Amino acid sequence: MKVRESGMPEAAMWQTFFNTEAILDAMELTGSVQDAVEFGCGYGTFAIPAAKRIRGTLHCFDIDPDMIEVSRCLAEQEDVRNVRLCLRDFVTHGTDLEQTSVDYVMLFNILHAEEPMRLLREADRILAPGGHLAVIHWNCDPTTPRGPPMEMRPSPERCRQWIEETGFTIEKAPVDLPPYHYGILARTNGGITSHSYIKEEAKYE
Ligand SMILES: C[S@@+](CC[C@H](N)C(=O)[O-])C[C@H]1O[C@@H](n2cnc3c(N)ncnc32)[C@H](O)[C@@H]1O
Repeated sequence: MKVRESGMPEAAMWQTFFNTEAILDAMELTGSVQDAVEFGCGYGTFAIPAAKRIRGTLHCFDIDPDMIEVSRCLAEQEDVRNVRLCLRDFVTHGTDLEQTSVDYVMLFNILHAEEPMRLLREADRILAPGGHLAVIHWNCDPTTPRGPPMEMRPSPERCRQWIEETGFTIEKAPVDLPPYHYGILARTNGGITSHSYIKEEAKYE
């Protein structure tokens, strides 16, 4: 099931909403990360720069074949070879990753989902001990040029509450990511014992 209000404007416009490298710096996505995941990679705006920073594989999931294709082209253009693009509905099927198999998860502009804690539990399941969760979202400000309707937009406090309820420890929150976003960085406490997302085979690959 596609997350509500998760359609994208044109790629060139989307790019103008972020200082991508500054956001990745602030969210501490550094060369110390081995394998990472993005839930809903869109145009690869963050996934491709993130892949350049890490040592291992960047696993990208998206439900929209056009988004996977655009990300694939961007990876090719930039000669980025450590990206795995997966056409998959992570709301219905979760990821296809083993538990404790990655050390960084990106939930960027997606936590206005109908069931945010479902995504957070899946993130916690796949994170290795000590692994990090990074969330960014649109500021709760009706003047931002894009973003979900205000009634769906989670505040930093609400995101923080969901993240803590899932069992993460907050490390940085909220981080100001000008011009339009905020971020939250959290660390897993080993969620595999408490979450049991049913892993299905990747039906869409
Ligand atoms: C608002 S965009 C954010 C893209 C990217 N994270 C960014 O910040 O640039 C959300 C993306 O999630 C994808 N998406 C929505 N629901 C999904 C689902 N159930 N499974 C996989 N991808 C989904 C959409 O197709 C879209 O590309």
